[in-house]
Amino acid sequence: MTSEKPSILIVEDEAKLRRLLELQLSDEGFAVRSAGDAEAALRLLGQESFDIVVTDFKLPGMSGLEFLQAAKRTNADLPVVIMTAYGTVETAVEAMKAGASDYVLKPFSLAELVLVVRKEMAARQLREENRTLREALGHRYQYANIIAESERMQAVLALVERVATTNATVLLGGESGVGKDLIARAIHEHSRRSSGPFIKINSTAIPENLLESELFGYEKGAFSGATSSKPGKFELADKGTLFLDEIGDVPPAIQVKLLRVLQDREFERLGGTKTLKVDVRLIAATNRDLRAALEEGTFREDLYYRLNVVAIDIPPLRDHKEDIPALANFFAKKCAAESGQPPQEFTPQALQKLSDFHWPGNVRELENVIARTLTFSSGTQINAGDIHLDSQPQRPAGEGAPILPPGMTLEQWEEEMIREALRRANGNKSQAARSLGLSRNALRYRLSKMGVPDPPEKE
Ligand SMILES: Nc1ncnc2c1ncn2[C@@H]1O[C@H](COP(=O)(O)OP(=O)(O)OP(=O)(O)O)[C@@H](O)[C@H]1O
Ligand SMILES: [Mg+2]
Repeated sequence: MTSEKPSILIVEDEAKLRRLLELQLSDEGFAVRSAGDAEAALRLLGQESFDIVVTDFKLPGMSGLEFLQAAKRTNADLPVVIMTAYGTVETAVEAMKAGASDYVLKPFSLAELVLVVRKEMAARQLREENRTLREALGHRYQYANIIAESERMQAVLALVERVATTNATVLLGGESGVGKDLIARAIHEHSRRSSGPFIKINSTAIPENLLESELFGYEKGAFSGATSSKPGKFELADKGTLFLDEIGDVPPAIQVKLLRVLQDREFERLGGTKTLKVDVRLIAATNRDLRAALEEGTFREDLYYRLNVVAIDIPPLRDHKEDIPALANFFAKKCAAESGQPPQEFTPQALQKLSDFHWPGNVRELENVIARTLTFSSGTQINAGDIHLDSQPQRPAGEGAPILPPGMTLEQWEEEMIREALRRANGNKSQAARSLGLSRNALRYRLSKMGVPDPPEKE
């Protein structure tokens, strides 16, 4: 974004409200244009460039959904914020699915609208900067306690760096043991809130009936046993960061309450009447596919969209194996320092063995394997034979034995085999396809399904 005023297009058929928004948003420092119907708005979108569109969802001549889609066709990155009067969150959710970035429910205050608009513009700027950063990956991100040699992990850190300085809610995704806790802390430590508290709460570790009071606190007498009052995690995290681990397991009754805190930044203690306001940055993490939970109806869509302002997906270790040698050395050094032993080195064969494994438990499993290996090996070198892996990458035999390596789905296993074949064939697709008993086209089809861009052929 330049130092010029950010430009905003308001689409609202009700003249009075339109005028009011124009005036007030100009006061807020926006360059404002407005339109009274979808057609005029689309004309303006074709002629000028805007940073953001704020539109009524009920317009004459065209449905809100149709307008949204048409506006997105002029620029797919354009943030569109919906104003909807129906008071039903369903309409808003429908709009979010069709590509709206956020919504306000009428009647709303100007402050609320401005907040949403500024947040959207910040998120857009973040996306743009991140893209440029990735393109110019000349700069490498370095964190003392995070190994990130691979491009995949560099991209994660680029995003961490960008998002840290904002107040945007972050949703961390990734399998167990990939480093979600680590990344959540890194975001906090690189934010302006770093001198404030970092509070973590894990919803699966707390029984449902206690979770609410843990989060929001309680007043004396709120329930039998509440002999004094107690602040909740939200209060404790004031001016800092609240890390909500395993968000996918939060029960529906508490999801509603979280939604309210995210929307209004306010809540009451259990049994309390005073409304409390807090300044908290929220980071949520999940090792489940929240989209599937949405479909099953176990996770609220409106909450999902509020949490998913910035999503950071941390890849499983088997997808950034380039990091394994550095990780292994990092953990070996850490162990040596803790036990006061001289550092040991891995032989190339040992590193190869580590790299060949598929690591269903990800980085945590690697860390455990290294720690165990070092406990039982003396000498200055660690050989392949010193390393004992929990499960074997080969197909286990025998009745009752699991057919797939533990922790892997059939799809992941297939992907792993394809990657391995390509590795062994040095990137030569025809050769890899032959070794898998596939035609070259069948392999290409599977690669595209995996989201692997057609790599340049190495013959
Ligand atoms: N890139 C990395 N560099 C160094 N250490 C790492 C890295 N990723 C993970 N670790 C270490 O691996 C261990 C597991 O990471 P962490 O606890 O953050 O995983 P998680 O994704 O939160 O797992 P879970 O889903 O089980 O909560 C930690 O000790 C962490 O410090
Ligand atoms: Mg964790």
